[in-house]
Parts: sequence; structure tokens; C-alpha cells
Amino acid sequence: MHIEAIRLKNFKVFRDVHLREIPKLSVIVGANGSGKTTFFEVFGFLRDCLSGNVRQALDGRGRFKEVVSRGCEAENILIEIQYRMPIAQVSRLVTYSVEIGQDQGRPIVRRERLRYKRSAYGAPFHFLTSRTAAAMPSPTKKISTNPMKS
Ligand SMILES: Nc1ncnc2c1ncn2[C@@H]1O[C@H](COP(=O)(O)OP(=O)(O)OP(=O)(O)O)[C@@H](O)[C@H]1O
Ligand SMILES: [Mg+2]
Repeated sequence: MHIEAIRLKNFKVFRDVHLREIPKLSVIVGANGSGKTTFFEVFGFLRDCLSGNVRQALDGRGRFKEVVSRGCEAENILIEIQYRMPIAQVSRLVTYSVEIGQDQGRPIVRRERLRYKRSAYGAPFHFLTSRTAAAMPSPTKKISTNPMKS
């Protein structure tokens, strides 16, 4: 699997970044405090969210207030990863995204999506779309039975 792009919003020092066209071999260089370690923390955070749940992943990192960018506590954390993998023998660009917010002091998964592009111009195919009731403008269209747990 080759991660081609990463978008982060309100994840610690990363208020709003979008890395595209990430080469297969990358070297991360930056001044002290610029976010090198934080960048790699994203993967551990996602692993903990998916193997346990979001609350546990946040608790292990000082809770939501320490993980969300300072001053953005009322906003959601967004993590979006695009990677290429074969689906039915065709290499597809898959996008996984999760938005995590807080509701009455409790962390919640506001939206989680997994989709891939069938062609350069076509609408993406959604494997999974899940929204919490609090974040839903209309009745939920839930495709997956296994979304990330708050
Ligand atoms: N919730 C947060 N919101 C905003 N900034 C944060 C948050 N948590 C940590 N930071 C900032 O992120 C920076 C630390 O980033 P990080 O440790 O990833 O940098 P680094 O490039 O690995 O630095 P070094 O070269 O010293 O290892 C610090 O400036 C810290 O103040
Ligand atoms: Mg570091």
C-alpha cells in the first residue's frame, strides 16, 4: 500500500495541512517543534482508534483538549489518508477520512468515510459512510456495519 496524500485539520500543531503526491520514499525534515514527531503520531493515533476506540486513543494522549489544535477546541479533528491499493485487480485510489469532535465533554466520531475513485472523473464509490446522530442533517445512510467506535 502506498500512501499518496494526507490531510490534517486541527490535529495538534497541524491546523490545516494537505500533503499530496507523497513519494514512496520520503524524508521528513524540519525545525524543532515543527511537527515531525506529530506527523508520525497520526498513524499511531489511528491504530489506537481502530483497534480500541476513539476515547481510549485520546485518553492515552491527554484527551481531546491535548490532541485538538490549541484554540480550536470547538472544532473537529480531521484525518484523511489517500492510498493506492488493488481492488478487483485494478489499482484504485482509496480515501479514508474520520472527523472527531466533542459533545458535552465526550469525544465522538462525527463522520467516517471510506471511498474510492472508479475513474478520474466519476463519482467516488463509498464503502462506508457513518455519521453520529448529533452530526446528521438527515437520516443516516449507513453502509458499513463496522464503523469506528467513539
Ligand atoms: N494541541 C496542540 N495544538 C497546537 N500545537 C501543539 C499541540 N500539541 C503540541 N503542539 C506543538 O507541537 C510542537 C511539537 O511538535 P513535534 O514534537 O511534532 O515537533 P518535532 O518537529 O518533532 O520537534 P523536535 O525536532 O524537537 O523533535 C510543539 O511546538 C508543541 O507546542
Ligand atoms: Mg520530534
